Amino acid sequence: MQIFGVDIGGSGIKGAPVDLDRGDLAADRHKVLTPRPAKPDTVADGVRDVVEHFGWKGPVGITFPGVVTAGSTVRTAANVDKSWVDTDARELLGERLGGLPVTVVNDADAAGVAEIEFGAGKGRGGTVILLTFGTGIGSALFVDGRLVPNTELGHLELHGHDAEKHASSKAKEDHDLSWEHWARRVQKYLAHVEMLFSPELFIIGGGVSRKAEKFVPLIKGIRAEIVPAQLQNNAGIVGAAMRAAQRR
Ligand code: BGC
Repeated sequence: MQIFGVDIGGSGIKGAPVDLDRGDLAADRHKVLTPRPAKPDTVADGVRDVVEHFGWKGPVGITFPGVVTAGSTVRTAANVDKSWVDTDARELLGERLGGLPVTVVNDADAAGVAEIEFGAGKGRGGTVILLTFGTGIGSALFVDGRLVPNTELGHLELHGHDAEKHASSKAKEDHDLSWEHWARRVQKYLAHVEMLFSPELFIIGGGVSRKAEKFVPLIKGIRAEIVPAQLQNNAGIVGAAMRAAQRR
């Protein structure tokens, strides 16, 4: 079965039809730039452009980089325009897609669902935490394969700051940090999350997971196993489509 997946990210809105049996894209993905400011109306236009590129007419799963309730109300918008807060994302995006059935989920939750089913968390029980390092830090918490939705572990306090301001990959770029320097920050962050949740496994996602060999070996003193995500940049698209299939 195929369902369309869209990932709304800090820099791009990416999408493709997803083959749910293989957990992979069924066609090369299409990307448009995320509008700045990333307001509901213009982001919705971007989502429409991506879906229309494929002439898709079926269900669509869409990620959002903030808390999205089960009823699809957006509750937080740390890295997109604040006017998203309290919007009904399903209604807005569904209308813009000409009435196609739409499911909207948190981006890290979507990536986590894909990794647990098809990637680095496959077959893993116990407590597993996926963390995406990108514009912000996203989190997905699993207990015996079941998602606890909308955890916001990127906003834990670290040294008196919002952790994602200190340890996201955007922080690495903005402050021109070396891999060593940034890995120390990530290590402190992981130690804090480990102290609170004692997971068996951390899965490191986000674009930077492609360069995992540059920083994961530098992270010391964490008891949990640390592995890079396997679906990398496609995890959000695949997971969004999976959530849409589960909710039909
Ligand atoms: C948001 C999360 C999101 C993460 C990654 C954070 O700022 O609060 O909901 O998952 O960024 O986009």
